[in-house]
Formats: sequence, C-alpha cells, structure tokens
Amino acid sequence: MKSLKLLKKYMLKQLFLEAHLCKNLKIILSQFIGTKYAIGVSSGTTALHLSMLALGIGPGDEVIMPANTFIATPWGPSHAGATPVFVDCDPKTWQIDAAKIEDAITEKTKAIIGVHLYGQPFDIDTVKKICNKHKLFLIEDAAQAHGAKYKTQQLEVLVKWHVTVFILVKT
Ligand SMILES: Cc1ncc(COP(=O)(O)O)c(C=O)c1O
Repeated sequence: MKSLKLLKKYMLKQLFLEAHLCKNLKIILSQFIGTKYAIGVSSGTTALHLSMLALGIGPGDEVIMPANTFIATPWGPSHAGATPVFVDCDPKTWQIDAAKIEDAITEKTKAIIGVHLYGQPFDIDTVKKICNKHKLFLIEDAAQAHGAKYKTQQLEVLVKWHVTVFILVKT
C-alpha cells in the first residue's frame, strides 16, 4: 500500500517535525486510516487536551479512563479543568474493565477515554454501548496502538475521536 510505505518513510526519518512535511503526513495518515481529515498538533497530550475543549468538557465535568495508563491520558481532561475518574483494569488484558465502568458514571460524567495500551485494543464494542446508553463521548487514546486492529477493523475508523502519536519509542 502506497500510503503505508510513505508513512513508514516519514516515521523512520522523523519527518513529522516541520510544518510543510507535517501537512503531507496528515494527508498520508488520512489515506492510510481511510478518513476525510487528520489534524496534526504538537503532542498526544495536546491532542487529548484539545479533544476535551472541542467537546466542551471543562470544570465540573468528569471523564472516565483506565487506572493503568500513561500520565498524559488524565492530563487531557485535567488541563481542561475537568476531573479524571479512574476505573480498574482487567487483570487478564490490562485494559479498562468495561464491567466496572457503569459504577463510575455520575451526572457529571461527560466522556470516556479508552486507551489501547501496549498495542492491545480495549473492548470497544462494550464501551461504545455504554457511551451510547449514557450519551457520553468516546475518545480513544491510541498513542501506543498506531495501525492496530480491533477484530478485523482498523482502530481509527471505529471511534469518532481518535488520538495517536508519532514518536519512535511508541508501540
Ligand atoms: C497512552 C498514551 N497516551 C498519550 C500519550 C501522550 O503522548 P505525548 O508524549 O506525545 O504527549 C502517551 C505517550 O507516551 C501515551 O503512552
């Protein structure tokens, strides 16, 4: 696939740091993912923070996420003034335990950030159902799972708000 080859070239040469190259990278990334748009920002932390602002999440709101994640996941909501609420993880998968999410939902809950940790997708189907039932936004933090698949589909096409990161140390 042409876009995959170009993406590999950009990643290996770390060509995502300059503005004009960044524009190409966004086009290549959206082709690779199969979406109309991809927006580049300075870091995954910024992307999570901006996602909160774009969704109108701020002071007084709560955002649910797995207890086992990188610090940048809670930084997204806390930089926006919202409160991160941690839900324990499934000891078998190390991903958010979807069965425990509903206990953490309050009238202040606005969103769930699902994290695909160590390249492993969380249980998207169940978490999506919970979000639909409680009218919550679902953001996926795929900083560690670029190009990963859930069942047979690419992660990026399954959830409306998808955050990923380009840096060579990531999964
Ligand atoms: C799960 C997860 N989310 C978000 C981030 C944030 O990315 P950045 O370091 O680009 O701010 C990272 C970075 O390691 C991460 O592992």
